[in-house]
Amino acid sequence: MDKLMAFIKRVSEATDAMLERVLPPEERYPASIHALMRYSSFAGGKRVRPCLVAAAYEACGGADGDERVFKAAAAIEMLHTFSLIHDDLPCMDDDDFRRGKPTAHKAFGEALAVLGGDALCILAFETLASVGRIDIISEIASALGTSGMLGGQVVDIESEGLHVGRETVEYIHMNKTAALIRASIRVGALLADAPADALERLSSYGNNVGLAFQVVDDILDEEGTTETLGKDAGSDAEKGKATYPAVVGMDESKKYAHELIEKAWADIAFLGDKGAILKDLAEYIRVRIS
Ligand code: IPE
Ligand code: IPE
Ligand code: MG
Ligand code: MG
Ligand code: MG
Repeated sequence: MDKLMAFIKRVSEATDAMLERVLPPEERYPASIHALMRYSSFAGGKRVRPCLVAAAYEACGGADGDERVFKAAAAIEMLHTFSLIHDDLPCMDDDDFRRGKPTAHKAFGEALAVLGGDALCILAFETLASVGRIDIISEIASALGTSGMLGGQVVDIESEGLHVGRETVEYIHMNKTAALIRASIRVGALLADAPADALERLSSYGNNVGLAFQVVDDILDEEGTTETLGKDAGSDAEKGKATYPAVVGMDESKKYAHELIEKAWADIAFLGDKGAILKDLAEYIRVRIS
């Protein structure tokens, strides 16, 4: 795992440097929204999606020093941050802490949190446009729309307090979380001009690690603490959310996360040694504590 930690550090630093470059300076008028965009972007996220972009790119033989990888990684991180700002709003999950700090609406007010989330989404697409690949813009847009993240978020909210079945929770998780994770991996592969069969296997890897990521997020919401998570522990049970532990139980959720990671490993076996970082990232997603 030493190699993985060094990889995460390298990718996080390069992503942060790109974010620093594309985010408007904090003093630029109107300063409040620019301060919020930076506050949420640099609050200390794990940068898992940028790592998946870069790991897929490198596994598919992409050349070193390609700035497009970090433009795409920074754009995806801004989109993820936008989704978190809106997810925390009082009309959504109504949470007070995120990435170890007060949520954007707690620190800046609700109106600015809505606008700051919108601004991150728009800046992300402006940044993606500068990569010059329409296939990548299209990939990410469809991962976020009503057949992706937004669809998942709608069913997540509409399922609160209901007794939903396993199919519904799978739909929610595949869409609200796995869609953007799968897109991150596909974008890395597309930038490396990977062949269609590699893209297909990496998409399956993306679905498996993406679903596992949200199953583990649900487990941590019950078993973690606000301190280690940096966000409100116990929030799901309080709202009667459709989570894996709620629908299938805690033991089955842990078993399922394990199975999904094993499936993800099988998906990337074709990469051989070149898939080492993707393999370790999948394990990290399962065993993480924050
Ligand atoms: C949290 O994502 C939201 C989910 C999709 C579960 P992360 O756990 O990647 O959050 P950060 O970016 O590290 O804060
Ligand atoms: C959110 O899922 C997924 C998003 C699209 C933001 P959660 O509501 O479980 O994420 P956390 O636990 O608040 O980070
Ligand atoms: Mg939510
Ligand atoms: Mg939430
Ligand atoms: Mg959660």
